[in-house]
Amino acid sequence: MKKIKQNNNVLFFYDDSKKWLMKVSRKQQFHTHVGIIDHKKVIGKEYGSAIKTNKGKIIYLLEPTVYDYVMKSQRSTQIVYPKDLGYIAARTGLQSGQSIVEIGTGSGSLTTFLASIAKPRGHVYTYDVDENFMAIARKNIEKAGISKYVTMEKLDVKNIKKVPQTDVDMVVVDLGDPWTVVPQARKMLKGSGYFVAICPTMNQLEKLASALRENDFFDLEFTEQIVRTIEAREGKTRHSFRGIGHTTYVAFARKVTTPKDLRRVIPRIESNDAPDEESVEESEDEGLSGVKK
Ligand SMILES: C[S@@+](CC[C@H](N)C(=O)[O-])C[C@H]1O[C@@H](n2cnc3c(N)ncnc32)[C@H](O)[C@@H]1O
Repeated sequence: MKKIKQNNNVLFFYDDSKKWLMKVSRKQQFHTHVGIIDHKKVIGKEYGSAIKTNKGKIIYLLEPTVYDYVMKSQRSTQIVYPKDLGYIAARTGLQSGQSIVEIGTGSGSLTTFLASIAKPRGHVYTYDVDENFMAIARKNIEKAGISKYVTMEKLDVKNIKKVPQTDVDMVVVDLGDPWTVVPQARKMLKGSGYFVAICPTMNQLEKLASALRENDFFDLEFTEQIVRTIEAREGKTRHSFRGIGHTTYVAFARKVTTPKDLRRVIPRIESNDAPDEESVEESEDEGLSGVKK
């Protein structure tokens, strides 16, 4: 049984579209269109219990999870959504104790997710060039209570001479031109470590795929995660009319070291070249990797 104390975070949940994530403070009263939520009434209550507003509406008191912190984060940039975060964790085997570099902190939503899994022994090193975005990300990360597992620095990773970390388990890139930092990511990664990039457009994927192949990455995969919400009610269950449309594609690759005499990079295909039958067969044999060694 976990009771709510002064300064704890609570997700005040009225319905799917009306929920507020706040730090509880004895002196605070929060005005909503379903009535006033009096924080005094909340302290000492159990997570999962409910209170009534002065208008008699029921508000559930939920303990926030990383999903709530991401969805309720203050946004200064596009963020990475839970549907994409989930596959990133599954595909890379993200786990506690790992060392992760993130290039492009933005609002810190991806940082929050990565650190929530890598903690308590792992760490996320995150870099950005914009101090205004970094200030907002810092607030979001603090709110989620994971600041001690995150080191944030102002650094233009595209123009570094010496990489700030080496031997890391994963480098995650969320920049408009992720292919520009593939060589730096390679230097930072341990052998077989994961490169992950958030690419909202297919054009980005194409350029990135070439850069990954040229820099000796293998096990390439490019995905789109589609989640459809279902409204389930007896006798009238159907897809929801609401839902998130396109968010991003995600690129995955692993750092390998191929002996020079065995290396063969797939040449860049001219836009009007159709693949011949032989190369189609080859790529089917290679599964998802797309590079023949
Ligand atoms: C789309 S946002 C990242 C959003 C983030 N993944 C999130 O979930 O909140 C891209 C960020 O990359 C940063 N950026 C752009 N160029 C950079 C560079 N050369 N080095 C580091 N960060 C850079 C931008 O300032 C911006 O904050």
